[in-house]
Amino acid sequence: MIIAIDGPAGSGKSTVAKLLASRLNFTHIETGSMYRAVAWKAQKLGLDLSDAERVAETAKNLDLHFIPGPDGQKVRVDGEDASPYLKSVSQAAAQVAGYAGVREILVARQRLMGAEGDSVMEGRDIGTDVFPNAEIKFFMDADPVERGHRRYEELKAQGRDVDLDHIIEQVKKRDHEDRNRAVSPLRQADGAILIDTTKRTIEQVVEEMLERVQSYSATKIP
Ligand code: C5P
Repeated sequence: MIIAIDGPAGSGKSTVAKLLASRLNFTHIETGSMYRAVAWKAQKLGLDLSDAERVAETAKNLDLHFIPGPDGQKVRVDGEDASPYLKSVSQAAAQVAGYAGVREILVARQRLMGAEGDSVMEGRDIGTDVFPNAEIKFFMDADPVERGHRRYEELKAQGRDVDLDHIIEQVKKRDHEDRNRAVSPLRQADGAILIDTTKRTIEQVVEEMLERVQSYSATKIP
């Protein structure tokens, strides 16, 4: 079974997807990390990020693995743990995610990963493009100012020196890019259940999603 979760930055996707996957004993696949890994590697190689062809080449050659561990999932890129660096390449990730060549490579990998077993896969285009026939699709959203606050708290907790207004502006900018790009723009997939997480706790959201999954299983699985 595939549970697809899409939504903008700060909607709570990753936190909720992780909890949902652990409650259901499914694999959690955070596809945003894959776009981040490509951006990180391209920067590390000193590439010009506006060179779509070379960035796609980097994506193609990338040896990328999700490694489960006691402190959560780590992302290994070409033998190196890239996890500590990935949160700081948001804007670059959104840029490389706009290239059709990069998406083609990562989407093919995501389909293979999803085919390996029951998965909660989250991103921007899972229900629209990667797995349009996913058994259950969710679209998570929240007020952009609240999403900015969440991202701010997350970065502050990591000891980063951040400015709230700047973070809110960045969240809005990335939303605009993700929703308006030519290839696979962020949108609510047909048949996706809308979950507005504004002013709701993580537990409330996870409970609602679990109920949806259970009622799906009760009606569809003999
Ligand atoms: O989810 P996360 O914030 O880590 O994603 C980083 C960026 O990767 C997003 O802003 C988006 O541009 C891109 N992305 C995408 N498609 C996905 C997942 C992420 O375009 N399935």
